[in-house]
Amino acid sequence: MLEGRHVIEPGSLSVEELDRLFDLAEAIVRNPDDYMDACRGKILATLFFEPSTRTRLSFEAAMQRLGGTTLGFAEPNASSTSKGESLSDTIRTVSAYADVIAMRNPKEGAALLASQVSDVPVINAGDGGHHHPTQTLTDLMTIRSIKGKTGGLTIGLCGDLKFGRTVHSLAKAMARYPRNRFVLISPPELEIPDYIISRVFKPAGAQFSQVRRLEDAIGDLDILYMTRVQKERFFNEQDYVRLKDSYILDADKMRLARDDLTVLHPLPRVNEIATEVDADPRAAYFRQVKFGMYVRMALIAQLLGRGAAPKKGGGGR
Ligand code: CP
Repeated sequence: MLEGRHVIEPGSLSVEELDRLFDLAEAIVRNPDDYMDACRGKILATLFFEPSTRTRLSFEAAMQRLGGTTLGFAEPNASSTSKGESLSDTIRTVSAYADVIAMRNPKEGAALLASQVSDVPVINAGDGGHHHPTQTLTDLMTIRSIKGKTGGLTIGLCGDLKFGRTVHSLAKAMARYPRNRFVLISPPELEIPDYIISRVFKPAGAQFSQVRRLEDAIGDLDILYMTRVQKERFFNEQDYVRLKDSYILDADKMRLARDDLTVLHPLPRVNEIATEVDADPRAAYFRQVKFGMYVRMALIAQLLGRGAAPKKGGGGR
């Protein structure tokens, strides 16, 4: 059971717990009305110290679709952080008002710190270049729903593999399933951190290869996970400008791919997928957005102990 737990990184949940979470999310997709009162009377706080569209709004939509309510802020200047209040004091305060907290913060480790002082579950909605576990839940649920499995897949990770926290979290999560193979597609400056190779792929026995050109790899892939070059994490504008368009997925490159390729992207995209690809049935990134809301519904319900299957003829609880 996830009741009362914190979700700080993808490894916060076991593979078995993930399966139960996805089962619940799929039940919600099938019968959303059964869960419309599951969290009535409960409050979700969304504390966003960094910009967001999908994560914050999908958390808020998720809680509202479960019958609960939300409060919070979308940028730190709208809170007493701007007066110098510490993160610990902010979290202690909000945990007196809300039943669960979703927080995004630019500092690595901020979510862990928050969990150490909070009286209620803390969900990491992104901490710097570190982790973004609910994006990983979104990605895994999308893969499970479209591919019907989470193992035995060849996964291309393309773009900013250095700063992209969604890539780090997805690599960790997918390495836990058997026979997954990773193709790491990046320029030398944006290669995946060494610790992912030494502490994730190698201990898991996961095969991986590094390539520079998307064209050389795309034909082998079951999944292509495109990422944005993370402008906000560069120290120098010139490097960003030089690297930002390293990979652009367009119709010509899609012609080199298999018919059963699934293209994912955590979004927002900037230039890395041409809009002409959106109409291709292999482009799944807007379906992925919707899965993100359903998996967050399932997560909130389970953290609040409201994730039980509805009784026949009754509501979510
Ligand atoms: N995928 C994602 O985290 O999007 P936002 O930054 O818009 O929340």
